[in-house]
Amino acid sequence: MKIIKESHSFFKTENDYTTDACTYLYEKLQRLQTSHTGPVAIALSGGSTPLPVLELLKTKSLDWERFNFFIVDERFVPLSDPQSNFNNIESAFFSAIPSKKYSMYLEGKSAEESVMQYEKLLHEKLALKNGLPFFDLILLGLGEDGHTASLFPATAALNETAALVVVNVVPQLNTTRLTLTYPVLLNAGSIIVMAKGATKHKIIEELYAGAASGYPMAKIIDEYDNLEWLTD
Ligand code: 6PG
Repeated sequence: MKIIKESHSFFKTENDYTTDACTYLYEKLQRLQTSHTGPVAIALSGGSTPLPVLELLKTKSLDWERFNFFIVDERFVPLSDPQSNFNNIESAFFSAIPSKKYSMYLEGKSAEESVMQYEKLLHEKLALKNGLPFFDLILLGLGEDGHTASLFPATAALNETAALVVVNVVPQLNTTRLTLTYPVLLNAGSIIVMAKGATKHKIIEELYAGAASGYPMAKIIDEYDNLEWLTD
């Protein structure tokens, strides 16, 4: 895999992605727990890749009450919907640990109201860095179209430079998403991208070959130093 920037690291899992990725994350959370006196703020992405890893991570011994979990992006569906990222992460992970967790989707609220409330929550719960809410760690995924979070190619959220959480209509999926925006993603202490499988390898290679400027992940790669990849 040709890497054009030394400021990124690839952790290539050896045997089993779930086990090795869990170990990597566990050690990361241990370091965060040790280096902090207050709460540790972590934002989790949806999708399928993280779920088995989170299933295993919840069995690890950490001071879970020190960790506050947030959501990177959400489908605008009820929490009971199988498409709900919060619902899936609740089943796989949150339900087993005593950490505080904050859903982006608010039952009975409009999409606009939900994102407005979430942005307010970030300002209430998170420390500030560069004047913006600061996540100690953000886990991102990578879509087959180069999207990350719910920042999809050719969608309005890509151009958002002020709001931290927006409603993003995704015509190519005929759906409405709620998502963190680049300013708050790029302000994180650490970003780990979890991407596995041949299709994702190809996208990663295109991204690092500078041949994928249309991919939303490209901006993260270009502007975020020390990006960490968990891949197989
Ligand atoms: C979502 C995610 C999205 C995800 C990628 C990768 O709501 O779907 O936040 O950005 O991380 O689509 O998903 P997989 O891990 O399922 O490939």
